[in-house]
Parts: sequence; structure tokens; C-alpha cells
Amino acid sequence: MCNIAGGRCSYNMSKFTSLMRPRSVAIVGASKTPGKIGYAVVENMKSSGFTGEIYPINPKEAEIAGLKAYPSITEVKKPVDVAVLCVPARVSIPVAEECGQAGVKHMIVITAGFKEVGKEGRELEDKLIEIAGKYGMSIVGPNCLGVIDTHTPFNATFAKNMALKGNIAFISQSGALCIAILDWSLKIGLGFSQFVSFGNKADLNEADFIEIASHDPNTKVICLYLEDIVDGPRFIKAAREATKRVPVIVLKSGVSAAGAKAASSHTGALAGSDTAYETAFRHAGVLRASSMTELFDLASAFTTQPIPQGKRIAVITNSGGPGIVASDSIELGGLKMAQFSEKTLDLLKETMPSMANIHNPIDVIGDAHYDRYETALNAALADPNVDAATVLLSPTAVIEVDKVANVIIEARRKYPDKPVVASFTGGFAVENGVAHLREHGVPTYAFPEPGVATLRGMAKFSELREAIRDGEEWTFDDVCKDKVKAIFEKVRSDGRDLLLSPEAAEVAELYKIPAAPSRLATTEDEAEKFALEMDFPVVMKIASPDIMHKTDIGGVKVGLKSKEDVRAAFISIMENSKKAVPGAKIYGVEVQKMMPKGDEIIIGMVKDPTFGPMVAFGSGGILVNLLQDASFRLASGLTKREVDEMITETKAYTILKGFRGAEADDIPAIAEAVARVAQLCRDFPEISELDINPVFAYPKGLSALDIKIKLS
Ligand code: ACO
Repeated sequence: MCNIAGGRCSYNMSKFTSLMRPRSVAIVGASKTPGKIGYAVVENMKSSGFTGEIYPINPKEAEIAGLKAYPSITEVKKPVDVAVLCVPARVSIPVAEECGQAGVKHMIVITAGFKEVGKEGRELEDKLIEIAGKYGMSIVGPNCLGVIDTHTPFNATFAKNMALKGNIAFISQSGALCIAILDWSLKIGLGFSQFVSFGNKADLNEADFIEIASHDPNTKVICLYLEDIVDGPRFIKAAREATKRVPVIVLKSGVSAAGAKAASSHTGALAGSDTAYETAFRHAGVLRASSMTELFDLASAFTTQPIPQGKRIAVITNSGGPGIVASDSIELGGLKMAQFSEKTLDLLKETMPSMANIHNPIDVIGDAHYDRYETALNAALADPNVDAATVLLSPTAVIEVDKVANVIIEARRKYPDKPVVASFTGGFAVENGVAHLREHGVPTYAFPEPGVATLRGMAKFSELREAIRDGEEWTFDDVCKDKVKAIFEKVRSDGRDLLLSPEAAEVAELYKIPAAPSRLATTEDEAEKFALEMDFPVVMKIASPDIMHKTDIGGVKVGLKSKEDVRAAFISIMENSKKAVPGAKIYGVEVQKMMPKGDEIIIGMVKDPTFGPMVAFGSGGILVNLLQDASFRLASGLTKREVDEMITETKAYTILKGFRGAEADDIPAIAEAVARVAQLCRDFPEISELDINPVFAYPKGLSALDIKIKLS
């Protein structure tokens, strides 16, 4: 976001080293009174193991918690990397000014009472931003819990405890959630590298903290809790970069107030309230968690397990039921049950009892001892057709739970490239085994499905990351940008925001989006001339921005096959229109070549206020809103791979590839048209909506029939 005046255009990570690895921290509003936030922050800083200087600032005290206190930060007279502000909102303004004068690099403003409380608070926050800008300071918050780095270590928060050392960076918009997660993490032994509450994000926001965490050598996975995103393109850029090194997982609460909903187009109606975030996260390579549990299940798995190379899962179980539950979960969730190689099957046949199922899921059956698990798990992990495994155990009287846990831990060591999760289902009987597995970094769940869900998330991340590596924007240099610009200028100078159909068709032609030829005739002679040029049959439609339901008022004539037909249609369309909508601004009559029927698709674009234009592809025609069959991607950075995915993930694809013996349509040409629409929308941010519906798809080529382009 970079609200700071003259702020950071490019990232200087060393600047943020002094935020996460400060050498000195001042606490402004430090207090001797237990129960006060300024007291808690001093205590936390002291007990965190921080080895740098701590400077309590308080106008009345000479010493706080055994540390020398200063009446003002300007009295410290030594470099201060971070100032934690724990003074009331109004006081924080002069304090920020003093911080600037003292050369503070970063302010963590815990104080509430800023923009979240309304106009007055907004003004205070603006003032804070202005002061920070003047002195080149960054701001975390205001209205936040603060920042922890367990490896520095330092704890500049008023949380009850310090986080455990670990490899998860947790970045949250909600301070209260941070407090709760922190407390919970201590109970279950979950560790963090960085723990950041960024509150109102007056300056540093989610994108900054993703960048900071992605440069942190101690962070193996970045988790975010977000309610909104302030700068879509920056978020995407930061996440895409981060994802090359570590997974980024987001739990996004609330639905988007996307402009997409407000759009009047077909494409707008196809976009759900959450489409923009879903689309943006996918493009950014961000894994989306649907719950807090999933967020941390995935985070834990990413810190201990390798990323799977594919979706083929082996299941090893000592009982049928859980094996079926896991198999269902694998298949329904889009993973695949691994098909074992002959070698694996031969080995299992030799070593397992005859009643055992040697095909996936491998059922080592109820009388199994740990050794059958050992054989089965090692055989599965050695198989090149297996990408990951889940081990299920029901605590029979004969199974040595702890030894099975050891088998898994050993197998993980032997096959470091394949993730393994476990589900030891039970209570007291499995307790020690579960603890042992957790100690050794094997994700363990009470039931099979969450384990499968974790593997699914990991496999999805693998795909997302692959897509990012394949990430060249699909662009064309054979487009006529200047001519399109001139058309838009003409439309604007005419006082319109909606292009007439012939203008829209011309724009499409200039971007080589195949469109049915279309011209605007202002006289019968012109209509005849255009019809002869494009060849019969033709369709004619009234060209008027004031007439919506053209067919109903006799403003459309189809199947015109001769000069006479065309002349007569011109007269009748003009008359009907003038009669039906007196005073309507009429530009003439559109003459459009009547195209042979093809499979009907829609290509469109809606704009999201945060993430910009999103292109859509799906089933088109008059049933478009009923079918609700569309996929979306961001126009910005759209790759060939993404366009291909867009097409294949719709139901329309089933028709396009040749349904029930029909000849397949020209899918490469359709893909190119989608990419060209995306480029048009990137080149002209003033396009607020674009709908091409229907597009007729043919075995060779395609033709855009009805093109609607609206300018902002
Ligand atoms: N420089 C340094 N210290 C000063 C200054 C100054 N200019 N002016 C006052 N102080 C001292 C005060 O004397 C006081 O110290 P004392 O205890 O020795 O008297 C200390 O600073 C604090 O000032 P108070 O006026 O006592 O303020 P109080 O501690 O009551 O409240 C606070 C300050 C906590 C920042 C409050 O304004 C606030 O914002 N509370 C909400 C915080 C919050 O919820 N943040 C969001 C967290 S995220 C979540 O939701 C969990």
C-alpha cells in the first residue's frame, strides 16, 4: 500500500530487518501499573529473551521493571529501531512526532481509537501517517496486538505469553484472534517464527508482511487471517513471489463487496460475491483454507512434510471401515487412489496374509502386528506410482501402537520426498502413539478425513506453484491499440458510455477477436451497400442506446437475403423504433452478417475494485444466467495455462470437445479469443464491463455475435 509520502516503491528488506530483528525497542507509555498495556509490553519484552536495548518511556517514572526509564523518546539519545506506542490515541500524535525526531525506524501502534471508530479517528490516523511519512518511519497498526519474532527473539505485544519457537509466520488482521491462537498454540505445542497483528494497516499491510516473512529464513509457511485486502495487485505480486519459496495459506473471512455484483452484464451476474478473491488467490498461488482448523492443519504439515509431487495417495489400514472413509474422501476431494505397480503388488502378495487386501487401500487386517504396517508402508512409499500416504490405525488388542508410530517415523526418514499423515483413531489406547508421531513431525488426526484434506491442500499447493512457474502472460502484438483508443474517444465525445454494436465489433476486429461483420448504416443505400459487401443473409438491428428490447418493438429483422429485403427492413426498423420510443437517440441501423449457428459460449469481463478486470468464459446464449456455467481468471498476468484451465473446467467444454459424436470445436481459437479479450481489458482500464454473448464456436474458428462494451 505504501501510504507513506514518497514511500517505498521497491522493497528494501534490510529496512524491515530492523523491524523484525531490532537492536533496540522503546515502549512509549511504559507503565509500572500491572494490568496496563504499557506494563504488559515491558514485561513481555523483558521475558522474551530479547538481547537488545529496551527503553521504557514515561514522563513520570525514572525506572520501570528494573530498567532506566526516559521522560521522552527524544531523551534516549541512542538509536531506536522500534517504538511500541501504548499511549492513548490523541497522545500518540505528539509521541509519533517525537519518535520521528528521535530517528525511530518503525512504530508499532497498539493504541485503538483510530479509523475504526469513525471520522475523528480517521483524522488522527491520517495525521499519524503524515508524521510517519515526514520522518520515513513505517507503522504497524494502529489498533493491533503487536509483533513477535521468536527467533530474534522479541515480543512487542500485550499477549499473555510469548509464542513457541517454530517455522510458521502468522499474520492477522484481527488482534483478538491472535491472542486466542497464541494461547491455543501453547497448549498444543505449535510454534511460530513470526506472529504479527497489523490492525488498521495504516501503512504496512498484508503484502508487506508476506514479503517480510518470505525473506525470513526461519519461516517455512506463511499463514494469514484476512478480512480484506487493500492493494490487490501488490498482494498478488507479493504472494506469487513468496510462493516460490514457501506456501502462503489464507483464511479469508467475510464476503467481498465486489463491484462484480453491481455490474449489469451477463458476466457480472455469473460472478459470485467471492469470485474475485477465489480468482485472485488462485492467480497468486495462495492456498485458501476454509476454516481455522484447516489453516493450521496445513501449516503444521507444510513445516514438517515435503510437498507431494502429485495426487496419488496410498492408504494403509488395519480395518475396512476407516479405509473406505479415507478412500471416499480421496476420490471425492479430487485426489486419486494410487494404482500400485506390479512389483509392489507382488511384494504385498508374498508378505501379506491371503485375507489381506493388497490393492489400495492396503488392509493389513485386524490381527496385524506392526510388522505388516512396516512392510506395507515401505512398499507403498517405494512405489513410483505413489505420491503420498495416509496410515490409519484402529487400536485392536494385538496392535503395538507405539511401534506402528515408529514404523511411520522411520519410513518418513527413508522416503523424505513423500508426505505421510496418520490417523490413529481412538482415545487412551492411541494417546502415546499420537504424541510420539507429533513429536516427530508426523501430522496426526483423530479421523481419516482431515488427514486426507491436508494431503489435498498440499497437492493443490503443488499445482498452484507449478502454475506460477508456468507464468508468462499471454500477449499479442498484432492489435491496433490506437484505433481502439480513437473509437473510445469518439464514444465519450458523443456523451455515451456504451459502444454501439458496430463500434464494439470494430474494437473486436482491431484486437483480432473474430466477430460477425457489422456496420452502421444511416441510409437505405448504405444498408444495401454494406449487405452486398458482407454477403447475404444479413441481420439488421436498430442502433440506439435508448432502446433496450429491440426485438419487442420490431427493431430487429433476421434472415434478410436480398437488396430489396434490406431496404425494406431499414425503413420498417426506423419507423418502428421512432414510433415505439419517441425521442430516442437513433444512430441508424446495424447491418450484421448472419452467421451459421454454432455452439454458444460467453466470453466476458467484470471489474473487481480490489483486483481489477476478471475475464470469464462459459456456456453462453439466452440461458446463460440459468446455466451459471462460467470460470473466471484475472486479466492481469493471464497465462495460456490459465486460459486452458478456464475452458476445461466448465461444462461448456464437454460440448466444445465434441459431445455425442459431434465434431469438436476450435478450442485453440476460443482460447486465443479469451486471451485477446483479456489483453483488450488490460490495455484499456476504462472498459468497465464487457460481454460477448453469444459467441458461436465452430469446428474451425468462432464468431462473436453480440458484443457489449461499457466504459467507465
Ligand atoms: N509519553 C510516554 N508516556 C506517556 C505519555 C507520553 N507522552 N503520556 C502519557 N504517558 C503514560 C501515562 O502516564 C501512562 O503511564 P502510567 O501508568 O505510569 O500513568 C501510560 O503512558 C499509559 O497512558 P494512560 O493514559 O494511562 O493510557 P492507558 O494505559 O489507560 O491506555 C492504551 C492506553 C492502552 C493505548 C489505550 O488508549 C488503548 O488504545 N486501548 C485499546 C488497545 C487495543 O485494544 N488495541 C487493539 C489490540 S488488538 C485486539 O483487539 C486484541
